[in-house]
Amino acid sequence: MIKVGIVGATGYTGRELLRLLRQHPEVESLAILSARTGDKSETLPPPLGDTVHPFELDRLSGCAAVFLCTPHHMASQLVPQLLDRGITAIDLSADFRLKSATVYRQAYGVDHASPELLARAVYGLTEFAREELPGARLVANPGCYPTSILLALKPLLNTRALDRSFPIVCDSKSGVSGAGKQPTETTHFGNVHENFKAYGVGSHRHLPEIRQESGVSDLVFTPHLLPVFRGILSTLYVRPAAGHSAASLRTILAERYAREPFVQVCPEGQFPETGHVLLTNRCALGVGACGDLVILVSAIDNLVKGASGQAVQNLNAVFGFPEVAGLR
Ligand SMILES: NC(=O)c1ccc[n+]([C@@H]2O[C@H](COP(=O)([O-])OP(=O)(O)OC[C@H]3O[C@@H](n4cnc5c(N)ncnc54)[C@H](OP(=O)(O)O)[C@@H]3O)[C@@H](O)[C@H]2O)c1
Repeated sequence: MIKVGIVGATGYTGRELLRLLRQHPEVESLAILSARTGDKSETLPPPLGDTVHPFELDRLSGCAAVFLCTPHHMASQLVPQLLDRGITAIDLSADFRLKSATVYRQAYGVDHASPELLARAVYGLTEFAREELPGARLVANPGCYPTSILLALKPLLNTRALDRSFPIVCDSKSGVSGAGKQPTETTHFGNVHENFKAYGVGSHRHLPEIRQESGVSDLVFTPHLLPVFRGILSTLYVRPAAGHSAASLRTILAERYAREPFVQVCPEGQFPETGHVLLTNRCALGVGACGDLVILVSAIDNLVKGASGQAVQNLNAVFGFPEVAGLR
């Protein structure tokens, strides 16, 4: 059993981690920290009720792993200190997802604080990183939109089942918790309630991550903001390669994920809904046809498979625990 730390426990993903780690059979104690320094502790509201201590590196001593639930540009400053102390870092922010510091600068508008570590980070889309995760010291937990899209796409790209002369179009919708707990002009209740909008059109920060991890440099991605709290539904438009159909693409996905505990493929005629995966670490996939095109639908809970649940799945893979530990 191990001690685990959470930095940024006052935020949405930090609190979700607390919910999951409380029931994790291999985690015997937790260091629950804010990402801010100072001298005032804070008590989380019910039902958690945990005390969150101000950030201090020494409070993480004895931790085998630390989850970083911090805004971008913070993990890249903390990770070198964690690695120096022999602590495995699982970063939920975007700091270690992109392999290029130049692309990171373009997407996030700041210079990366530890670019020399980018090559060491394992991109933790767990189902596709099982060889690199055991014993990894630095895990870049994927973004929520990329998780929903890549789980639908990667098996089809890997088997060359798509006609790449047709653009892959990804139309995603997210609940407002995807933006974190701090309300903004776009995300406060008055602008979200009874409203629905596209944002980040052609320029969202997750676009370079999705392109990098899919290898599709002209992939199109448009996110939308749903008037709900949790959940992502991504609808992907693809053209199958010669000899393929919606049925054969569904078979490829079903076979690839047949033994996966957290990815399920719906039978013909059924499509996932965000309500089907709420509060779970599951990704549900559906496949249909419209003329020559195939429509892939992917649903996840952005705070679980899109963030904290996948982070726990990665912890399990790094330390050799059963992958479902703490996630059932
Ligand atoms: N929400 C999602 O669905 C999701 C999914 C995947 C990845 N992520 C990523 O995970 C990370 C955390 O996301 P979240 O949704 O948990 O965000 P959040 O709810 O906004 O929480 C952010 C955390 O960072 C702290 N923080 C914010 N600004 C800070 C500053 N200037 N200095 C020190 N600490 C600061 C907050 O502390 P205070 O409470 O003291 O403000 C809080 O603990 C982000 O990088 C996000 O992009 C989020």
